[in-house]
Amino acid sequence: MSTSGTNGARLAIYPGSFDPITNGHVDIIERGLRLFDTVVVAVLKNESKAPLFAAADRVQLVREVFRGQPRLEVDTFDGLLVDYAARRGAAVIVKGLRSIADYEYEAQMALMNRRLQPGIETMFLMPAEPYAYTSSRLIKEVCRLGGDIHGLVPPLVEDRLLRTFAAARDPLSAPRHV
Ligand code: PNS
Repeated sequence: MSTSGTNGARLAIYPGSFDPITNGHVDIIERGLRLFDTVVVAVLKNESKAPLFAAADRVQLVREVFRGQPRLEVDTFDGLLVDYAARRGAAVIVKGLRSIADYEYEAQMALMNRRLQPGIETMFLMPAEPYAYTSSRLIKEVCRLGGDIHGLVPPLVEDRLLRTFAAARDPLSAPRHV
């Protein structure tokens, strides 16, 4: 199987909601960058999931975290992931696999995606151990309830989460561009 994109470069798509990007995502992206020439972080425009951050904000946070990394691209997509991957000429979808709890759902999606596009492989990468139990959902819940999320998200994401939840408690402290 070739892992080359349309221009011959090895390109992988790393899809997700990224609501917001966590250090677990950062870990997977860095592993992907060691294996592929280009990693495209594909942010799902899933407004039906009622995300905390709009897709444009989620994209901006990923871009800021990886500022200066020319091999990382950030894009949005909707519709079928495999259609997006095919349009981009990617032969590989990278997913993070934290635990056995992720496995069932991820295996279902990988096999369905293979049925839809047999030429595209899903590659699972395991994050470093400290991120095996973290998720955007849990981090948002802990932060909203006043718990410590330091070290679980990049500093600029921590700052953004703290300001967003502070603004929800006290609208007068709302950051101007949330
Ligand atoms: O970060 P998430 O929310 O766990 O990411 C899930 C994502 C975006 C990878 C998944 O929902 C997805 O691929 N959505 C696109 C729609 C699609 O292709 N559905 C069929 C999957 S078999």
